[in-house]
Amino acid sequence: MQILLMLLAVLLVGCGTTEPANTRAAGYIDSRACEGCHAQIALSYRQTGMARAFHKIDADEVPGGSFVHQASGRSYQFSTHEGRAYLKRDEVGGGNPIEKEIHYVLGSGNHARSFLHRTPQGRLIEMPVNWYPEKGGIVAMSPGYDRPDHMDMRRAIGYQCVFCHNGYPKQAGNSLFDDAVFQGDLPEGIDCQRCHGPGREHASTMGRGKILNPKKLSGERQMEVCMQCHLETTSFSLPNSIVRFEQSIFGYDPREPLEKFIVHFDHAKGSKEAEKFEIAGSAYRLRQSKCFLNSNDKLTCTTCHNPHEKTISVDAACAKCHGQMESSTKHPAKADCASCHMPKRRTEDVIHVAVTDHKIQKPSAKQDLMAERVERHEQMGGTSYQGEVALYYPKTLDDDLYPALAQVMHQSNLKKGIPRLEAALEKQKPAHPAYYLQMAQALHAGGEAARALPYYEKALGIDAKYLPALRSKGISQFRAGDVSGAKLTLEKTTSLHPQDSLTWLELARIYRSEGKSADAAKAARKAIEQEPELVEAHKTLGTILMESGDRAGAEEAFRGALREQPDEAEVQSNLANLLAGRGQGADAERHFLAALKMAPGLKAARFNYAVFLAGQKRFADALPHAMEVVKIEPGNLEGRDLLGNLYMAVRNFREAAREYGEALRLNPAYARGQLGLGTALGALNDFAGARKFLTQAANSMDPAVKTEAAELLRSLP
Ligand code: HEC
Ligand code: HEC
Ligand code: HEC
Ligand code: HEC
Ligand code: HEC
Ligand code: HEC
Ligand code: HEC
Repeated sequence: MQILLMLLAVLLVGCGTTEPANTRAAGYIDSRACEGCHAQIALSYRQTGMARAFHKIDADEVPGGSFVHQASGRSYQFSTHEGRAYLKRDEVGGGNPIEKEIHYVLGSGNHARSFLHRTPQGRLIEMPVNWYPEKGGIVAMSPGYDRPDHMDMRRAIGYQCVFCHNGYPKQAGNSLFDDAVFQGDLPEGIDCQRCHGPGREHASTMGRGKILNPKKLSGERQMEVCMQCHLETTSFSLPNSIVRFEQSIFGYDPREPLEKFIVHFDHAKGSKEAEKFEIAGSAYRLRQSKCFLNSNDKLTCTTCHNPHEKTISVDAACAKCHGQMESSTKHPAKADCASCHMPKRRTEDVIHVAVTDHKIQKPSAKQDLMAERVERHEQMGGTSYQGEVALYYPKTLDDDLYPALAQVMHQSNLKKGIPRLEAALEKQKPAHPAYYLQMAQALHAGGEAARALPYYEKALGIDAKYLPALRSKGISQFRAGDVSGAKLTLEKTTSLHPQDSLTWLELARIYRSEGKSADAAKAARKAIEQEPELVEAHKTLGTILMESGDRAGAEEAFRGALREQPDEAEVQSNLANLLAGRGQGADAERHFLAALKMAPGLKAARFNYAVFLAGQKRFADALPHAMEVVKIEPGNLEGRDLLGNLYMAVRNFREAAREYGEALRLNPAYARGQLGLGTALGALNDFAGARKFLTQAANSMDPAVKTEAAELLRSLP
């Protein structure tokens, strides 16, 4: 039997198996080939979470029922038909339905399952809802999505998720700066070679060829095999780690030191964030334990875990160092050590998940470890941490390049990081363009777009077609005021990389700023063609078309944006305006109200809604909205004028006069204010006052105001 299996394995190695693309070293095989000779291990490994961390969705993993997310006003429902699984999204109250097929599940379900849709281009899109086993199994928002303006069905997952959760996929890109695009069938689960390294030679020589047995490594290096995935100091912006730019994404080889592949960082000691508990931090927490710190690298993950097995004998592991504990007055128990010293604890980054705290310590009764949490969010586009980013692993490095990069990459310590990185680049002169790109982007973020330009040149001097540098260079040129230079750069970028939606979008914005609406619309359409989910592109197109008078086109574009992201208040408001203009009152009102619900302070929406209501002769309804406009912006002349007009309409002439007067106080030459005040004073029988302001208005440059003022002057007694 064993022989037969071995032969089968050899055959498998010889044919049919596919070489994964872009792995660091050749020599990897489809690790199903290992199963034939290591049947026992393979069988028990299959039961573990790691082996099931990524797989095609099974029928029994499709949650039933529907889930309503109050904060974003959306509801989600899973379904299956003809053996395929789907997730449908609706707005509460109907509208904007979208349905996406679910192809893969990420997560064994021991703690959670994320659902992934694979696009025809090969991107993986994370669905906004997860399944969690807590409370007998619930559907709830995916981590980071419990907010009104979440990414919904638009978040493409990067190579990093897949790095930690799967084997070696075939991928189109090769660097972390590329879009994550996958080719062919994806592997299903973390495979043997992620810990054992390339196995082709070993497998094709009946096991005589060398293969890594982590047991033979030093304690520190054994830990590193696990730390490639289990050492996340934080999942919030920092950055927690940087994969070296010279490495390909799946390039880590467990036979080599981890620091050759990745450098890890942490919050500075003593900062508020230094004490944290997150989902992928087993190694981070263990490394804080006295057991680890005081045992000279003898404590590793495999002291307690056999990675091929689901079960664990903890007490025996503790006994290796602490001997047999006795229950006594000094110590309460002699077994079940983990229950008190390694309790399960709710994580801060995935609020529906609790995992074992690997910081082994004396139990403390102070804290309710399972207390429910509210999800913590970073500000859009910014980090919540501002401070030094500390080198975490390895403890020291020969040069300051990566520590300096870490200060600026998420802008945690931008001011001090910029000179530090400049000095490090000067000293090391690295040969990869990404270093110079990071330098340029840091300067841009620090408000020094012009100073960024030479660094883009350096990056492009190494690789003239380097997309992220080309695109960012155009953006920085525009920011620095060099519009024609920016255009030249971005036009060249679109000819080299016509598939890059973001470049088309930037180009559309620049054309628009120049008033070239036809070119702008064309570029925005190109962006949409490349990436239909890009909300900003629909939005920009709508604005361009609205400005150029193509109302039907603008409406279609705004609807496109809302299909992808219903809670874009500005788009809702623009669409409402267009509909009001077309006489579609009921529809317009619905969109105005939607806009104001999402963004009560959105002045344009308030103003336009008040104008719309006035147009419907609902003056009393309009009044509070106009009041809100001048409350938000007291110096808003049009708002004052509108408010005055509304008071006139409800025959409150005194208030009307006050508002027009206020407008004129802000700008005595404001013709509409003069006309309004003249009219109001006339209505209050102050004819002298009326004559004064109407005469001023009759001299206005605005022909409409001029005519009306002249007419009113004639009608004065
Ligand atoms: C054709 C059979 C065969 C295949 C296929 C095979 N092995 Fe082995 N493997 C062996 C034999 C035989 C040994 C050595 C016998 C022993 O000591 O257990 C071995 C030993 C090992 C060892 C221990 C090495 C050491 O130095 O302690 C590891 C680890 C290992 N194999 C992993 C793998 C992995 C991973 C794969 C798939 C990539 C694989 N093997 C495929 C036959 C095979
Ligand atoms: C640095 C490696 C790393 C990255 C990056 C990472 N994860 Fe994880 N993830 C882990 C580890 C390790 C666990 C297991 C934690 C535990 O069980 O204590 C985990 C657990 C999970 C689980 C729960 C699985 C289960 O049932 O136990 C899900 C779902 C998940 N991650 C999704 C994601 C998604 C989606 C991404 C990308 C946005 C991601 N992870 C990025 C390492 C990572
Ligand atoms: C998560 C990392 C990891 C994965 C995945 C993994 N192994 Fe291992 N493997 C190890 C470690 C660590 C050891 C050494 C265990 C020890 O210290 O005793 C090991 C040991 C071995 C050994 C040596 C025999 C032994 O029991 O000591 C073999 C054979 C082996 N693994 C085969 C496989 C095969 C086949 C697969 C895929 C089905 C696989 N491993 C998947 C980490 C892994
Ligand atoms: C390629 C990334 C990766 C590597 C390497 C890795 N892990 Fe994991 N590990 C994960 C992820 C992801 C999970 C969560 C999987 C899930 O449940 O969906 C996990 C889960 C686990 C679990 C939970 C139990 C289970 O059934 O899986 C243990 C224990 C574990 N890992 C130990 C180890 C040890 C020990 C090593 C090193 C020998 C190691 N891991 C190496 C990514 C990795
Ligand atoms: C590799 C050896 C090793 C293993 C395995 C080990 N420990 Fe320890 N442990 C130590 C050492 C060393 C210390 C520090 C003793 C000292 O400095 O006084 C320690 C300290 C502790 C402390 C005191 C911590 C504190 O903050 O004061 C506790 C509690 C403890 N261990 C519990 C456990 C438990 C429970 C297990 C099993 C889950 C375990 N240890 C496994 C070596 C180990
Ligand atoms: C001193 C013993 C010990 C050591 C060392 C240890 N673990 Fe664990 N680990 C545990 C215990 C106990 C559990 C809980 C097992 C359970 O609930 O079945 C656990 C669970 C896990 C889980 C699943 C989390 C959960 O609660 O479901 C992961 C992932 C994990 N360990 C990874 C690691 C990694 C990676 C290392 C090395 C950095 C490591 N462990 C070292 C004792 C240990
Ligand atoms: C019911 C809870 C509980 C269980 C179960 C438990 N312990 Fe403890 N352990 C404690 C408490 C409480 C202390 C702190 C006592 C003190 O403050 O002196 C402690 C202290 C320790 C210490 C530190 C002793 C010292 O003097 O510094 C070690 C080591 C330890 N336990 C190991 C173990 C091991 C090994 C097991 C499993 C055989 C275990 N414990 C099971 C509650 C527990």
